[in-house]
This record gives sequence, C-alpha cells and structure tokens, in this order.
Amino acid sequence: MRLLVTGGAGYIGSVVAAWLLAARHEVVVLDDLSTGHEDAVPPRATFVRGDIRREAGHLLATGFDAVLHFAARSLVAESVARPDLYWGNNLGGTLALLEAMRETGTDRIVFSSTAAVYGEPASVPIEESALTLPTSPYGASKLAVDTALTEQARMHGIGAVSLRYFNVAGAHADPRAGWLGERHATETHLIPNVLAVAQAGSGPVSIFGADYPTPDGTCIRDYIHVTDLAAAHALALAACAPGQHKIYNLGSGTGYSNLEVLTACREVTDRDIPAKMTDRRPGDPAILIASSERIGTELSWHPQRGLHDMVTDAWTFMRRDTRT
Ligand code: UFG
Repeated sequence: MRLLVTGGAGYIGSVVAAWLLAARHEVVVLDDLSTGHEDAVPPRATFVRGDIRREAGHLLATGFDAVLHFAARSLVAESVARPDLYWGNNLGGTLALLEAMRETGTDRIVFSSTAAVYGEPASVPIEESALTLPTSPYGASKLAVDTALTEQARMHGIGAVSLRYFNVAGAHADPRAGWLGERHATETHLIPNVLAVAQAGSGPVSIFGADYPTPDGTCIRDYIHVTDLAAAHALALAACAPGQHKIYNLGSGTGYSNLEVLTACREVTDRDIPAKMTDRRPGDPAILIASSERIGTELSWHPQRGLHDMVTDAWTFMRRDTRT
C-alpha cells in the first residue's frame, strides 16, 4: 500500500513508519519538524516537510491508500497553558486532513488517540466504553478527533481506527533505520527522565507524589513497548473497514507504580539512581490501566514485551552515541 504517515519524524510515528516499510509498504512522511527530527525519518521513506493544514491536500492528490495520523502536540501541561495550540493543531489539523481525504477519495485512517480521553477513571481496567471526561485540552482535542472520525465514517463511509495509547515507552531496533526512540526537547515522561539521571550520574530524579491511594503511594501506569505499538498499527490498518470507526485501547492490562519503574531502571542500568519524592504533579490520575481485551479479541494483538524490555531498549537507545 502507499501510505501517508503524518508526524513520521516523531517518536511513535518514526517507529511505525519503519515497521510499515519493513512490511513492504511505500511510506511518505509528512512532518513540520516542530517537535520531530529529520534524521528519525526511516531512510526508505519519502520525507516532505510541512504542515498538514497546507500540504495534506496536494500530497493526498498524488494517490494514497491510507493515512496514519500521528502529527499532534502531546504535552498535557503545555495544553493547559496554550489550549489554542492544541485545538488548532490537533483538531484543526485533523479536520483539514479529513477534508483532504474526502476530496481525494482516500478512505482509510489510523489515528493516534490517547488514554487522556478518559481523564480520571471511575474504575480500572479502563474499557473503551468507559466515560470520556478528559481533564486537559490535550485529551479533549484527541477526543474531539475521535468524535469527528465516528461522524466521517458514518457520513462519508471512511474506514477509521483510533488507537488509545496508554504509556508508550522503549525504543525500536530497525534493521535498516537503526535505533529509533524518544528524543523530546521537553521531556516529561518518567522512564526517559529516570534514565537521563542514570546516564548523567547526577540527580536526583523527582517522583511526583507519594500520597496516592496505591500500595506504595505513587501513581500506577500501564506501559506499552513502542515496537508492540507499531505492530498494533499494522493490524489496525488491515482492520479499517468502510463506514466503521473502531476504537481500541492499547496497554498491557498490568500496572506499575512509579517506584517499581524506578527499581526496574536501577536493575537494568545497574546504577544507583538517586530519587526524591516531591509534590504531586497537577492533573495526574492515581491509576491508569487499560483493558486491551477488545483489540486482543478482534485483532489478535497481544503485547510481547514487558517493562524490563522497555527500560533496556530505552537505555540502549539513550546510550547509542555515547556508550557511558
Ligand atoms: N513522573 C515522575 N517524574 C517524572 C516524570 C513523571 O514522577 O520526572 C510520574 C508522573 O507524575 C506520573 C508517572 O510518572 O505519575 C507517569 O508520567 P508520564 O509523564 O511518563 O506519563 P503520563 O501517565 O502522565 O502520560 C501518559 C501519556 C500522555 C497522556 C497521559 C494521560 O504519555 O500522552 O498519560 O494521563 F496524555
């Protein structure tokens, strides 16, 4: 298939692009490099630098079988400070993309949605039928796109799949593209922050909140390896069916506390990573665990890699240039 991957210079988009190329698809990456890196675009992909709002129309006019849509802003705290960026990029950008798809007859899309659409869950594991009450403009903008996709499928017959990621981690080793992993200018995620302290030999890393209603008092999250996530996208692409919008959670069904993640990082790196307990980070739910039963049953997707694999691969990726 000829595939347009928006945001394919970013962490998840680049890994999925590499996975699709390995599966012998033709891939065109569209990315404005506002947060991505050109050298993360897999070598065999065609790269177009630009904004989806301006470029998607004439690119899609050259003929594509499907779109995998990753281009988005994805920082929860930034979205609270600058909601305009999130409505403009995430919702406005996607609406422009959907319009271009309609004009060019491109009728399949896989969308990168998020656990943030659920907000603070009433119970875990979270099923796709759970209430969606996002607590940030980021989650709200992704939920708005999910809603738009449902309507587009119903009104215009496109086939759409939304994948609601829980906590994506790890790095992907591609035989041709090499290691692809997380390289955010502003790093907010737990595993890279802990590993950065391990690598720098400095610290301490802050653990946000030790008074949550969990066994060790720290937040619990459901981690998923970025390679398992890429495999899910390939299955989702094959599952796009005209007139249907399917929604799947992507997690493992298992939660790890922030202290358990810290312990895993200490074990993998064999370094004494200093940590300090600080105040809660505003807006963090205590526990987020996915039910991934639906995608397991319907698409036969089951995560193959656990927390230690994620930390090991993230650590290898982080040290790939400077074997410290
Ligand atoms: N944390 C720390 N120290 C850090 C970074 C994070 O203690 O330096 C804690 C957080 O407070 C949280 C846990 O580690 O308890 C996980 O935080 P991350 O930032 O790694 O991930 P989140 O669970 O906040 O974010 C994920 C996705 C987002 C999504 C969000 C929905 O990465 O895209 O879930 O809540 F929006």
